[in-house]
Amino acid sequence: MVKFSTPLLAVLGLAADRAYAALDVDLDDPASIKKAAALVAEDLLTFYHGDEPGMVPGILPGPPPDGDYYWWQGGAMWGALLDYRHHTGDKTFDDLITQALLWQVGPNEDFMPPNWTASMGNDDQAFWALSAMLATEIGYTDPPPDQAQWLSLAQAVFHEQTHEDRRVPSGRCKWGLRWQVYPSNNGYNYINTIANACYFNIGARLARYTDNSTYADLATKTWDIIKDLGYISDKWEVYDGAHLPDCTDLNKAQFSYNSAMLLQGAAFLYNYTDGSQVWEDRINSLVDRMLQTFFPDNIAYEPSCEGTKCNADMLSFKGYTARWMGSTMQLAPFTQTKIMPVLKASTQAAVKQCTGGDNGRFCGFHWNTGVFDNSVGAGQQMNVLGSLISLLSPSVAPPLTNSTGGTSVGNVNAGSDEPLVPTFAPITGGDKAGAGILTALIIAVSLSGFAWMSTD
Ligand SMILES: *[C@@H]1O[C@H](CO)[C@@H](O)[C@H](O)[C@H]1NC(C)=O
Ligand SMILES: *[C@@H]1O[C@H](CO)[C@@H](O)[C@H](O)[C@H]1NC(C)=O
Ligand SMILES: *[C@@H]1O[C@H](CO)[C@@H](O)[C@H](O)[C@H]1NC(C)=O
Ligand SMILES: *[C@@H]1O[C@H](CO)[C@@H](O)[C@H](O)[C@H]1NC(C)=O
Repeated sequence: MVKFSTPLLAVLGLAADRAYAALDVDLDDPASIKKAAALVAEDLLTFYHGDEPGMVPGILPGPPPDGDYYWWQGGAMWGALLDYRHHTGDKTFDDLITQALLWQVGPNEDFMPPNWTASMGNDDQAFWALSAMLATEIGYTDPPPDQAQWLSLAQAVFHEQTHEDRRVPSGRCKWGLRWQVYPSNNGYNYINTIANACYFNIGARLARYTDNSTYADLATKTWDIIKDLGYISDKWEVYDGAHLPDCTDLNKAQFSYNSAMLLQGAAFLYNYTDGSQVWEDRINSLVDRMLQTFFPDNIAYEPSCEGTKCNADMLSFKGYTARWMGSTMQLAPFTQTKIMPVLKASTQAAVKQCTGGDNGRFCGFHWNTGVFDNSVGAGQQMNVLGSLISLLSPSVAPPLTNSTGGTSVGNVNAGSDEPLVPTFAPITGGDKAGAGILTALIIAVSLSGFAWMSTD
């Protein structure tokens, strides 16, 4: 690890244990990748304080103005750490992960804790469910029997989101899943890709895990709806969403996580259908477009914000994209020859710029410049972590199913006792301004002069 000789360090007045010059990693050596990933994970957790006295387990500091992060990103981080554990075998963070996920399940065991009502989008809820689903698929330690179980948590969220009260009753965007859960939240009239893509993804995974075609049918129905609405274009670009009443005011911003969420879900359905041609073709088309759009010069890039300013949400998309492409390589192995060389080149660029912070190895956000950009945060660490471990995906165990060793206990009725029209105190102006994943996007794009996005 130490790149400078000790005498030189003495001259420079530096302690040898702080002498990291970037992350020293050999991407052809799994052991080296694991070692580097461990350091990135350790640095990621410096942004987490939920395990400290008086703090709330599960969440990253926020939401603004109390910190940079919305509730969902905590859920996403536990997914990244579960994937890290699965790819490396490092169980260091198990207690943190379990405490975090179980703390946030809420009174109905459906990841809707009342504290977070003001930022409760269907996508926000789904990101926590996705981490529970991942726990199910990697055979993560089951909670004690008197607690919520991973599989039933994922089912609860999927079942609730299947219900009509989360959906558009009629018209051109009929049965589209709304962005927001509650009518009182900004964005209730926005039918966005990520909410629908998360639902699609969870459905695809529940179908494969439980071998229940009801889930696959609902996932496929969702794919058809957003394809017909033009959210997935004929060129396989994936747009952000559109508003009621007609879903015609397409917001054509492209974010990598939208495409990647669909890609991974498609890979699960491909695998569930024993390699159907339909899903193979869709996967090929998505992958080709994604590599062009999100990996110019083979380096991960967020075209809709990286040239201007990405908010804290967007700063975390590269990591999910890498991980979900990694899982695509497992479930649809024919994609490996296309995906792997690009992820490898991208990861090489990523680690090169991890030269920041006190220890000289914190990562920035811009990977294509070759130098650390002084932008540190949980998203930036998750991105590099996700990118590193994705290179190991083809050689680690594929997602389990109920019949191949999965032990998590499900519940076909989970989520059915949720009150259909939840009644909450009116949300105050301050809370409302902080709601949801995309509010910050709305603010960001207003700043950068786009006019297409209505703020309801
Ligand atoms: C809700 O907020 C209270 C008060 O801050 C806190 O003690 C509790 O842990 C929070 N619960 C969740 C699930 O965030
Ligand atoms: C489904 O995934 C498994 C596990 O990675 C893999 O061995 C199998 O080949 C995949 N199925 C198809 C049709 O590619
Ligand atoms: C698989 O699912 C069936 C029916 O849903 C259930 O009875 C069985 O216990 C499950 N197997 C395992 C290993 O969980
Ligand atoms: C399949 O899943 C659906 C939705 O949860 C459920 O209603 C149905 O009972 C399940 N079927 C079986 C055979 O478990």
